[in-house]
Amino acid sequence: MLRFKQKTLLAAAAAAATLLSGPAVSHFDDQQMPQSYRQSYFALLAANFGPMAASVKGEIPWDQEKMEGWALDLGALSTLDIMRGFVDGSDKGTTRAKAEIWQNKADFTDKMKAMRKELASLQQVTATGDRAAIAQQVGAAGKACKSCHDDYKAENYLY
Ligand code: HEC
Repeated sequence: MLRFKQKTLLAAAAAAATLLSGPAVSHFDDQQMPQSYRQSYFALLAANFGPMAASVKGEIPWDQEKMEGWALDLGALSTLDIMRGFVDGSDKGTTRAKAEIWQNKADFTDKMKAMRKELASLQQVTATGDRAAIAQQVGAAGKACKSCHDDYKAENYLY
């Protein structure tokens, strides 16, 4: 009986560890710093943008204070130049970044700039509390994410 309990506990602990080491933590790999750097950035974007989009869609209740908090963090993230995470030679490893990024660096950089602009606006618009305007700006920012992903991000890890 005790043996069984111990085994069960071990299995539960292993399952919990697997959950914890899922997408959020597995980004970090000190052999692949640029890849880890940019993926961590995108994880932060998604953690703040996701609930804003869900609120606009009515999937979760609208909480204006929280909306402002997420928008504030997205505004802060928009000040980072994440191109440091896309240095030459970092197209390999555990990544979804397509090789086309390095072939069309100027276009990619423009798309990144466009997103940063939309996120800065999102912070301002969210502070007004005008829900229709916020919804529209969430849509505009979402389009900026998508237009880059369509061209430059693979569905799954590539290598
Ligand atoms: C200029 C291009 C570009 C823009 C704009 C962009 N992304 Fe990405 N995103 C990428 C690339 C490239 C990857 C793959 C990075 C890698 O795997 O090395 C990625 C990966 C991701 C990932 C997966 C991270 C992981 O490894 O688990 C998420 C989530 C994500 N982006 C969310 C967003 C959100 C939300 C926005 C908009 C607010 C956004 N992205 C805007 C290019 C972009």
